[in-house]
Amino acid sequence: TTGGSDDQKRRAAERAAELVSSGETVGLGTGSTTAFAIRALGRAVDGGLDVRGVPTSFASRELARDVGIPLASLDEVASVDIAIDGADRLDADLNLIKGGGAAHAREKIVAAAASRFVVVADPSKVAETLDRSVPLEVLPDARTVVAGAVEELGGDPELRRAERKDGPVVTDNGNLVLDCEFGRIADPASLAADLSATPGVVEHGLFVGLADEAYVGTDDGVDVRR
Ligand code: A5P
Repeated sequence: TTGGSDDQKRRAAERAAELVSSGETVGLGTGSTTAFAIRALGRAVDGGLDVRGVPTSFASRELARDVGIPLASLDEVASVDIAIDGADRLDADLNLIKGGGAAHAREKIVAAAASRFVVVADPSKVAETLDRSVPLEVLPDARTVVAGAVEELGGDPELRRAERKDGPVVTDNGNLVLDCEFGRIADPASLAADLSATPGVVEHGLFVGLADEAYVGTDDGVDVRR
């Protein structure tokens, strides 16, 4: 969760929710922007929209259930018609950094399975070059060796710690998170390949070539990027 206003987030999210049609399987992302889309879909379901949602996290499942969206778990679905999700950073090629909520492993599976992946964001997320730390979900036993591998790739890894607990953040999958600072990422595809090739990395937060379009909410409308 960062920067933009709730109105900007809501505008983007509600516009994206309107893309969903009856009969579709919808990937439900995670974060404060997507939450507005989940609430909008809940209202549409009340009005007769017939969809099933595939949540990407404990938090999105809980919200979707609260607002009455019928749900399917990831292991029940072979494909997703449309996925809606937020981002921590978004560049001009629609490459993303995700994982601020530590949900990027399931988010990436759902985004990659989706015929259409729509990013919802506010202007604070948009950057010319990806320039934020990249979250890695790592197997707990692998965190020391993965941290060493990240340093060899030129990164500075830091174990994500929980705010209201003495200890680390543990993902919905029971793993740890290393936030890895690489400075400005000139070649996201190459870094993504290196991180994917590192044993012990369950998933990294670089989403390269996955997003089909981005809806960026502004103070007076929605900027659609393709
Ligand atoms: C969750 O792990 C992230 O990938 C979120 O999608 C991302 O942090 C966006 O969250 P906000 O919409 O709250 O900024």
